[in-house]
Amino acid sequence: MPNYVSIRDISNDKVPVGMLQLAGWIRTHRQSKRVSFIELSDGTSVSNLQLVVDPQLAGYADIAPKLATGASIKVSGELVLSPAKGQKYEFQVKELELLGEADPESYPLQKKGHSLEFLREQLHLRPRTATMGAVLRVRSAAAFAVNKFFTERGFFYIHTPIISTSDCEGAGEMFHVSTFDPENPPRVNGKVDFSQDFFKEPASLTVSGQLEGEICAMGLSKIYTFGPTFRAENSNTTRHLAEFWMIEPEMAFYELQDNMLLAQEFVQDVLKQVLESSASELEFLASQEWAQQGHLENLRRVAETPFETMDYTDAIRILEESGKTFEYPVKWGIDLQSEHERFLTDEYVKGPVTVINYPKDIKAFYMRLNEDGKTVRAMDVLVPRLGEIVGGSQREERHDVLLEKIRAMGLDERSYWWYLELRKFGTVPHSGFGLGFERLLMYLTGMTNIRDVIGFPRFPGFAKF
Ligand code: 4AD
Ligand code: MG
Repeated sequence: MPNYVSIRDISNDKVPVGMLQLAGWIRTHRQSKRVSFIELSDGTSVSNLQLVVDPQLAGYADIAPKLATGASIKVSGELVLSPAKGQKYEFQVKELELLGEADPESYPLQKKGHSLEFLREQLHLRPRTATMGAVLRVRSAAAFAVNKFFTERGFFYIHTPIISTSDCEGAGEMFHVSTFDPENPPRVNGKVDFSQDFFKEPASLTVSGQLEGEICAMGLSKIYTFGPTFRAENSNTTRHLAEFWMIEPEMAFYELQDNMLLAQEFVQDVLKQVLESSASELEFLASQEWAQQGHLENLRRVAETPFETMDYTDAIRILEESGKTFEYPVKWGIDLQSEHERFLTDEYVKGPVTVINYPKDIKAFYMRLNEDGKTVRAMDVLVPRLGEIVGGSQREERHDVLLEKIRAMGLDERSYWWYLELRKFGTVPHSGFGLGFERLLMYLTGMTNIRDVIGFPRFPGFAKF
């Protein structure tokens, strides 16, 4: 292992002053007769380290013109307390080696700030920017926080398949997985003959790990998944991706109330953990021009305050009585649109709200039917600015009610035989939810486009690299 110290450890006062080695990419290089300064970043911290170079340093004069923004270098020297204002440390270079040039004529990321749109066209260089560096470090910290939260509460982390032969949400928004020649698949009576395909039946990329999660919860009590999920919906919005990561806990013996409490505790705990572990990243992001006023104070408040709960039927009444004209008219039975969710969170509650008991016709087949026969034990956690961040429910554990719902929704009961069997053999009340990891990251970082909180976004018309 190379013997480099990270700028993160230096900024966190974990490195005693003295001789050491560093490596990274040049942010800026300022030359003068008596002394030169290089701002070095190694991507581990929002801070850069100032390197101080004596222009007489052996070999420096030859490579100085090449020490441009984006070039990579390796240095040995001495970490000292800085006499300059605004930085605690600086680094006096004793040896400097140029690892890789970055020609200023062609290197796209120059000193000046770049728009987030421009950076989306430069995905291969984007992680080197201060913003994306901060976002990716928050992402890593949040993933750790998720695993910590569940592990500490006795949940087991399970891995559900990415290739699946069932459509969990029943919405048909699936990417097909096949080894057929798309130009010429084998056909019988004009129809594609999947019995000759790799899996001998139609297969897709999973939209959710829930159904397999339920299988495991029916053996292990409390589980969670955390993996990629795929939706072939043609949604070109700032909060939809075609490939996103979802966290899905599933708990035997939990009813809707338990599920709601867990979702709240989970969101709040991850906020608290990340506010602490990524404080400098979040502060840096909150200081950017696109950030919302009071973003971090708001997160801290949300992390401590119980979420409001609202029945879908009450939400509809509140929307109807709001005196607002919505683009999409409000009446009992509609699926809440983004504008409705935004009114509830941003204007009415002014914070997160968990909406429960939605009409059965707008929710998935697996949700438990309420006694009224019209609504199901669904819950969506909505947050300001973003709308839905968590979707979940108590599951229908009664075999006959479930079978009837599968039929009523026009789904093929034969393909859910195993799901029905879980209700035949030792069925129990159970619940779970899915939290969109990128939506959570938008909430945490204040980024306004979901394409900026994942390294390699996939959306309609775009799957670079
Ligand atoms: O509400 P959804 O579709 O629920 C499910 O998939 C359930 N099977 C979850 C469960 O109960 N285990 O999706 C859950 C969450 C949403 O609340 C949202 O945060 C996120 O996943 N999500 C998306 N995130 C980014 N891009 C998309 N296209 C998303 N679709 C859903
Ligand atoms: Mg949903």
